[in-house]
Amino acid sequence: MAEEMRRRSGNSNQITRDYLDSLLIETRYMNAKVPTTECKIFGRKASSPIMTAALSHLDKHLYEGALTDLAAGAKAAGAIMWMGMEGEEAVEACLDTGADCVEIIKPYADRAVLFSKIHHAKKRGVAAIGIDIDHPFAKDGTPDVVDGLVMKPLKTKELAEIKKIAGLPVIIKGVLSVRDAKEAVKGGADAIVLSHHNNRIEYAIPPLMALPEIARAVKGKVKIIVDCEIATGMDAFKALALGADAVCIGRPLMKALAENKADGVRDYLVKATEELRYAMACTGCVDLTQMDPEVIKERRF
Ligand SMILES: Cc1cc2nc3c(=O)[nH]c(=O)nc-3n(C[C@H](O)[C@H](O)[C@H](O)COP(=O)(O)O)c2cc1C
Repeated sequence: MAEEMRRRSGNSNQITRDYLDSLLIETRYMNAKVPTTECKIFGRKASSPIMTAALSHLDKHLYEGALTDLAAGAKAAGAIMWMGMEGEEAVEACLDTGADCVEIIKPYADRAVLFSKIHHAKKRGVAAIGIDIDHPFAKDGTPDVVDGLVMKPLKTKELAEIKKIAGLPVIIKGVLSVRDAKEAVKGGADAIVLSHHNNRIEYAIPPLMALPEIARAVKGKVKIIVDCEIATGMDAFKALALGADAVCIGRPLMKALAENKADGVRDYLVKATEELRYAMACTGCVDLTQMDPEVIKERRF
């Protein structure tokens, strides 16, 4: 019980949810038009800037075939699918669904593992690769060990080397400071993901709270993607209005998979995109390049 109470304090998912819900939307109906959510991400055409988040070990957490169902659902919705820590066969199975896929690779201490995964991803035709820089440490502050593999923080000069050999767009996932965003730019990253990776650290600044300052510091030099607690098209709209180029949805899609497999994922993504289009229509945004941060107001009552 005592441990349970301690664990509840500072939960970053709860703090992020509260922050998202504190953001309100100004409407602009005069001269409004039906908007489009179509976009190009990492050179691939997508019907929506809403993508699936990197979710590893789905076959273990949910059911065998859940990861490829996630890819098939994304493909059916015209959305880009992200993969997390996976073996080469799983990566290939996702690509075989025809989905445009992004692979997020862990910061393995043995950089040979990291580079071999990048080579495989490139050979198999993923749209982009990334590193989740927020996963070097275990909860006691020592290097984390995942599936028997030790992790290590990424250095800016290593990122520059990755960028050189990858020949693909490179993403840095797990940025929540201007400092890390600037290092990502210095290392040649193409995109950053503002994320606390499902509460990897308690009391994390909500990604949308960090977004305006980071966008001011690096916008135009890298694409900005947001995840954590994005559950609806309204959440996505707030992120996009505040300066994100795209968003990812994670745990809600696990629920959709559990309930209705690939169709559940497709339906969830399509509905979230419809909600986003509605929010854009009601705020006078005709397309994703016309988002205005001024439509977002902080709740003060
Ligand atoms: C089961 C599970 C597995 C995950 N695996 C990875 C991973 O391998 N790599 C990664 O970068 N993030 C991973 N994440 C983090 C998600 O990509 C995402 O950042 C996080 O879940 C926040 O999004 P959400 O609030 O929509 O779930 C995982 C999350 C979950 C719940």
